[in-house]
Amino acid sequence: MDKKAMYKLSYGLFVVTARQDGFDNGCITNTVGQVTSQPNRISLTINKDNLTHEMIQNTAKFNVSVISQAADFALFKLFGFNSGRDMDKFASFSDCKRTDNDIFCITKGTNAYISAKVCKATDLGTHTMFIADVTDMQVLDDAPSSTYEYYLSNIKPKPAAVGTTPDGQTIWRCTICGYEYVGEELPEDFICPLCKHPASDFEKVSPASIDAPAEKSSDSKSTWRCTVCGYEYEGDELPDDFECPICGVGASDFEKV
Ligand SMILES: Cc1cc2nc3c(=O)[nH]c(=O)nc-3n(C[C@H](O)[C@H](O)[C@H](O)COP(=O)(O)O)c2cc1C
Repeated sequence: MDKKAMYKLSYGLFVVTARQDGFDNGCITNTVGQVTSQPNRISLTINKDNLTHEMIQNTAKFNVSVISQAADFALFKLFGFNSGRDMDKFASFSDCKRTDNDIFCITKGTNAYISAKVCKATDLGTHTMFIADVTDMQVLDDAPSSTYEYYLSNIKPKPAAVGTTPDGQTIWRCTICGYEYVGEELPEDFICPLCKHPASDFEKVSPASIDAPAEKSSDSKSTWRCTVCGYEYEGDELPDDFECPICGVGASDFEKV
């Protein structure tokens, strides 16, 4: 059995939004699809740890904003690398509008929104699959939809090169959300901190497959590695106010390698 067959499935990318008790939130998913046309129904599979999951379970309503190729990484960073449990994602985000169900849809970097009302929920262990009736939908833009593959190749910032680190460590990439783990061996019980998929959904990234890797200098500069996503910064000092360009955490989450 060749597990890489799973990677041949193509996925769209979406911002799924919900509203509960006056609080708006949303997260990135790649798991929305139409399941029937009469009635018009979609499925959404979402991790139980996500606040968005809890909000949908409590309110039975959500919006899906379809991410287009015009989206920039900031959209993924805000909605896919942060939890509404820790921040108000809409506090200073204005590229959105309320739809008839009073939930936000995203208006920039998206090409359509679909409003849905949950009619069935199936417990899948780590995730719940919601089946929902489409209650409204609008096209917002002509830009083509972004696939997960397009996101990895064109939107997500490239990591620093591996194989050139002093100890020659390797990158393991989550094939579901693109999270990267740096280390010679990926622990068997490793769970992706972003999309919660297991080690079996990670693939080893060979240095040659990383586009335009940052060159390591041969002088005595130091390297700091983000302990959350594995991004590497090289310089004499790591600035106190440095923010990881991949996952957005601060300098205190970096360690010197
Ligand atoms: C490219 C990408 C794809 C993702 N796909 C999913 C997904 O299909 N299902 C899921 O539950 N989380 C997915 N995530 C992770 C959630 O967006 C992330 O855990 C988010 O911080 C949850 O936010 P919340 O707690 O505010 O709901 C993805 C993240 C990224 C960056």
